[in-house]
Amino acid sequence: MDKNTEEIPHIEVLVADASHEKYVDTILDTIREAAKKRGTGIAERTHEYVATKMKESKAVIALHGDVFAGFSYIETWGNKEYVTTSGLIVHPDYQGYGLAKRIKDYTFTLARVRWPEAKIFSLTSGDAVMKMNTQLGYYPVSFQQLTDDEAFWRGCEGCTNFPILQMKQRKFCICTGMLYDPKKHKGEPTPIEVFQDVIKVLTKRGVM
Ligand SMILES: CC(C)(COP(=O)(O)OP(=O)(O)OC[C@H]1O[C@@H](n2cnc3c(N)ncnc32)[C@H](O)[C@@H]1OP(=O)(O)O)[C@@H](O)C(=O)NCCC(=O)NCCS
Repeated sequence: MDKNTEEIPHIEVLVADASHEKYVDTILDTIREAAKKRGTGIAERTHEYVATKMKESKAVIALHGDVFAGFSYIETWGNKEYVTTSGLIVHPDYQGYGLAKRIKDYTFTLARVRWPEAKIFSLTSGDAVMKMNTQLGYYPVSFQQLTDDEAFWRGCEGCTNFPILQMKQRKFCICTGMLYDPKKHKGEPTPIEVFQDVIKVLTKRGVM
């Protein structure tokens, strides 16, 4: 299908809550399928883990009506010194419409609003993610500049490339580490409409 000529579907991007748990298995299946297709490693997440992210207002979901279109979530590490945006997935039916970018704007804004002093990092082997990270001000770093929180690195254990990470004493792997340092971006705004929506949602839910 030609994405330039077909009608762009109306997709809503929102901070997920407990009511979105019904999409978790579809999200996990879509992530698994994408990893298989790309032939890359993947950090496996459980249903409970993803559902908890939704309940904690740490996840972003994209929906076309009630059909799942995309997802990502955030988590803090090392006593909230670091935040990651992870698990970005756009269902193949909705790729190429700029949806990943919209989701990324939401997770990035969520992270900046909730933990403004935290460094944001990303561990990725995806070109699209590296491109979006670069546009937001992330830069590539060695793994030593990322968190030393064991819980974060345990997330890599489900990846097929984990033996490489172990062999390299956690200094390198297939993924590229990218870091956003808030100190280098003082006073820079995040996308205004997303910012306003995130503040509204978090205030309503009593998260901030
Ligand atoms: C990667 C993925 C999230 C992109 O979703 P999408 O909604 O099609 O992406 P967007 O349309 O928002 O594109 C965002 C940017 O990435 C670029 N991009 C998208 N797919 C790309 C690809 N395969 N290679 C290189 N760049 C790509 C786009 O050109 C766009 O950049 P631009 O605004 O400068 O033109 C989606 O293809 C996907 O879910 N893939 C499988 C899972 C995956 O790879 N996740 C990343 C984990 S590392």
